[in-house]
Amino acid sequence: QNRTFTMIKPDAFSAGNTGAILKMIEEAGFRIVAAKVTKLTAERAGQFYEVHKERPFYNDLCEYMSSGAIMALILEKDNAVADFRTLIGATNPAEAAEGTVRKLFAKSIEANAIHGSDSDENAQLEGSFFFSKDEEF
Ligand code: GTP
Ligand code: MG
Repeated sequence: QNRTFTMIKPDAFSAGNTGAILKMIEEAGFRIVAAKVTKLTAERAGQFYEVHKERPFYNDLCEYMSSGAIMALILEKDNAVADFRTLIGATNPAEAAEGTVRKLFAKSIEANAIHGSDSDENAQLEGSFFFSKDEEF
C-alpha cells in the first residue's frame, strides 16, 4: 500500500505549527491526497482511538484530542506507513530522534503533535473515518 493517514493534533495546530509540519511532509516526498481542518467530539475521538480503550490514558487522550481543531490528511508515497512513522518519530518526544516532527514540535507523550497510522489496514480505516472517496485526489 502506498497511502497513510495523519492528523496534526490540537497542540501543534493551535500553536501554528501546521505549515512547518506540512513542509516537512512534502519535503519527505509525500503527496497530499486529501486534507481538511475539523474538530473531533470526545465521542468521535473515542471511536478513533477505540483500540486504546482499556489503557489508563484513554479518557485523557479523548479529552485532549477533542480540545481543539485538527488537520486530517491522507498521504501518498511508496512505503507510506513505515516511512511516515520514521518521519514523525517515537510516541514520547523525549525518545524521538533528532529532526523528527515529534522531536521538533511535540509538547509531551500525550500532546505529541501528530498521528501516523501503524498499518496499511489502519491507514485505510482511518482515512475513511474522515474522508469520502470523492474527497481523495
Ligand atoms: P498515534 O500515531 O497517535 O497513534 O501515536 P503512536 O502510534 O505513536 O502511539 P499509540 O498508538 O501507542 O498511542 C496513541 C496516542 O495516545 C499517542 O500518540 C499519545 O497521544 C497518547 N499516548 C500514548 N501513550 C501515552 C501515555 O503513556 N500517556 C498519555 N497521557 N498519553 C499517551
Ligand atoms: Mg498509534
